[in-house]
Amino acid sequence: MESPFERPELYDLLFDTLEFDLEIYKSAARGARGPVLDLACGTGRVGLKLLEDGAQLDGVDLYEPMLAHFRKKADARGLKVNLYRGGFTNFQTPRKYALVVCAFNAFAHNLTQADQLETLRRVRDHLLPGGAFLCHMSFPSAELWSGPDGVPILEAEVPAGGGRMVKIYDSRTKNPLEQTQHSEMEIQIVGADGGVIESHKSETDVRWIYKPEFELLLTTAGFSKINFFGDFDRSPLRADSKQLIVTAHL
Ligand SMILES: C[S@@+](CC[C@H](N)C(=O)[O-])C[C@H]1O[C@@H](n2cnc3c(N)ncnc32)[C@H](O)[C@@H]1O
Repeated sequence: MESPFERPELYDLLFDTLEFDLEIYKSAARGARGPVLDLACGTGRVGLKLLEDGAQLDGVDLYEPMLAHFRKKADARGLKVNLYRGGFTNFQTPRKYALVVCAFNAFAHNLTQADQLETLRRVRDHLLPGGAFLCHMSFPSAELWSGPDGVPILEAEVPAGGGRMVKIYDSRTKNPLEQTQHSEMEIQIVGADGGVIESHKSETDVRWIYKPEFELLLTTAGFSKINFFGDFDRSPLRADSKQLIVTAHL
């Protein structure tokens, strides 16, 4: 089945207006003494805002349709951006960065510890001396693991113009032993009368990660000065936090 990242226009209908996380990336990019890499940049939800804010930004993503959409949006705004196709564990760009950001659960698409570590080593190799990595994922709650498998959950519902709504349902199957989650997703465009006009199905997998494991991976990959936060206001990570934000330095 298709990946959700083959459909950038649907991704943008659902998520492009999300701004809950932007400030932390903007302030990190403003403080960076050099170029910024948006790793798993997608359609440029974060990257375009950083470019508009004056960052010299490059982007990397595995899915060409996401990159093509980002490129189109940057061109329309007269913004210059270098975008490279690459996976987490094998991406390569011609320059190094003062800051690498990895936003909105993208890092969770590393499905094994080996891939997580390889990704962090790649990030390290693309950082300038003293450079920083800033990464955000959801903090996996106890309810995530105890919730029922295979039941569609309405994750988001956003107006799509002309009285239509776009809805995303996620049916999760979890494997707590491996900390992985398989998602079968359905994106629906629903008319003003409530009838489903379009239905798009896709599948993806993620691996959730907790603080001690992330800390060990970052240290093993050569990072230091590692700090965890539980929200975008930089409050401490706690057992009941909803977000996991980590900063690490070379
Ligand atoms: C939830 S989206 C986040 C996109 C963007 N960072 C944002 O904040 O809107 C996850 C992104 O990870 C990318 N991705 C998934 N697997 C990947 C991989 N193995 N290597 C690189 N990028 C990947 C997808 O194409 C998608 O753009």
